[in-house]
Amino acid sequence: MAQQAWLDGRGLAAFAGGAVLALLASRLLPPLAAQSYGMARAKAGSDPFEALARDHRLVLATLDKMIATPRQATAKRASLLLHVKRSLTAHALAEEDVVYPLLHDQAHAPEEARHLYSEHADIKMHLHTLEQMPKDDPAWVGIARSLRDLVSDHARQEESVEFPRLRKLLDRQAMAQVSGQVSREKAMVL
Ligand SMILES: [Fe+2]
Ligand SMILES: [Fe+2]
Repeated sequence: MAQQAWLDGRGLAAFAGGAVLALLASRLLPPLAAQSYGMARAKAGSDPFEALARDHRLVLATLDKMIATPRQATAKRASLLLHVKRSLTAHALAEEDVVYPLLHDQAHAPEEARHLYSEHADIKMHLHTLEQMPKDDPAWVGIARSLRDLVSDHARQEESVEFPRLRKLLDRQAMAQVSGQVSREKAMVL
C-alpha cells in the first residue's frame, strides 16, 4: 500500500514535471522560433531597422484612424487604442532591450539612449491617460493628437539619426543577430 502511494507520488511528480516543461516550452518556444526566423531573414538580407521603421508607419496610420473617429464612436476608439498599445508595447520592448543598449554600449551614445528611453515613458503615460479617460471626453482627441506628435518626432529621430548610426556600426552577422533578438522580444508580447 505504502509502495503504491510512493509510486503514485512519483507518478504525480513526473506528471507535474512534464506539465512544467510543457508550460516552459509553450512560453519559450515562440520567442526562440521567432529569433531563428529573424536571424534567417537577416541572413537573407533583411534589416531589423527597416522592420522597426515599418512598425512606426503602421502605428502612425492607426493613430490617424483613431484621431479621425467621431466623439460618440467610443467602442471604435477603445479598440484602436488597444491595437496601438499592443503594437507599441512589442516595438518598445525590442528597442529597450536590444536597440537602445547597443546605442548606449557600442555606439557610445548614452545621452541619446537615455533620451529615447524617456520618450518611451512619455508615450506610455499618454497611452495610460487615453485608456483611463472616458472615450467621449472632449479632451480625448487632443491627447491622442499629442501622442501622435510624440510618436512621430521620436520615430523621425530613430529613423534619421539613431538607426543609421547603428547600421554603420554593425556588420552582416551582427545585423542578423539583432534581427533575431528583435523578433524574439516582439514575440514575447504579440
Ligand atoms: Fe523608440
Ligand atoms: Fe521605434
